[in-house]
Amino acid sequence: MDYQTLLFHINDGIAFVTINRPDKLNALNDQVMKELADAAERIATESDIKGAILTGSGPKAFVAGADIGDLSKQGPFDGKARAQRGQSVLRRLETGGKPIIAAINGFALGGGCELAMACHIRIASDNAKFGQPEVKLGIAPGYGGTQRLPRLVGKGVALQLILTGEMIDAQEAYRVGLVNRVVASNELLPTATAMMRTILANGPLAVAQCIEVVNAGYDLPLDDALTFEATAFGLLAATDDKREGTKAFLEKRAPSFKGA
Ligand code: COA
Repeated sequence: MDYQTLLFHINDGIAFVTINRPDKLNALNDQVMKELADAAERIATESDIKGAILTGSGPKAFVAGADIGDLSKQGPFDGKARAQRGQSVLRRLETGGKPIIAAINGFALGGGCELAMACHIRIASDNAKFGQPEVKLGIAPGYGGTQRLPRLVGKGVALQLILTGEMIDAQEAYRVGLVNRVVASNELLPTATAMMRTILANGPLAVAQCIEVVNAGYDLPLDDALTFEATAFGLLAATDDKREGTKAFLEKRAPSFKGA
């Protein structure tokens, strides 16, 4: 697919995906969502992509939300369909088995905050602002915000953000656990890239299994989640990566993982 609203390039195993509508603060219109769906599929399935970094174009916004022009025209049934399409795109990013870092370079509002929350790790520049302002438009979050926000920051803070619609700055987002790190703007992509390189130096099957177990186990009863964890632990014991990782440690050298 030729992208009109995304920049997509792969550098040494990392897919850099930039939402590229800076004049509209990278708002998620239907075209962006269609292209993001394609990008999510590529990240999950292409073997030369080991992980991805998502960011927004321009100095001002990661993503300022779903496109309000599109939202203003929707009725109840296409509204529900749009929410489900968006949810499935974000879910594909979350469960595709490759690590994804959101590099949040400005406003992350509504669908932008939701997109960032579907990524595995969030790094924010110090000018970033977060919020779920949907209630100000007479609507509610529809791309997973009502579910992922309480899971990340707890129900009380999530309800405060969702019900007031007010924005918080990067430091407050860090304080409440919405982002993992806050850095200066010029350090954002280098920090995200360095963190991704640290992840990609580890056993890729182990990384994929950790994502799967944390994601799926989070909502299971503890005993079921622990069984799931033990199964992943056992499965990884059968891999060449495990043989290489443990052997390299014992031989006091860096491992060389092949993902098998
Ligand atoms: N959907 C569609 N267009 C959007 C948008 C969105 N979510 N967010 C910003 N834009 C557009 C603006 O309409 C404007 O377009 P224009 O130049 O053609 O008029 C352009 O992006 C720049 O935004 P502007 O509002 O002029 O920038 P600002 O610095 O004054 O304000 C925000 C920035 C983020 C506070 C403001 O744009 C805003 O509140 N956006 C909507 C946020 C929102 O409610 N998101 C949730 C949607 S569910």
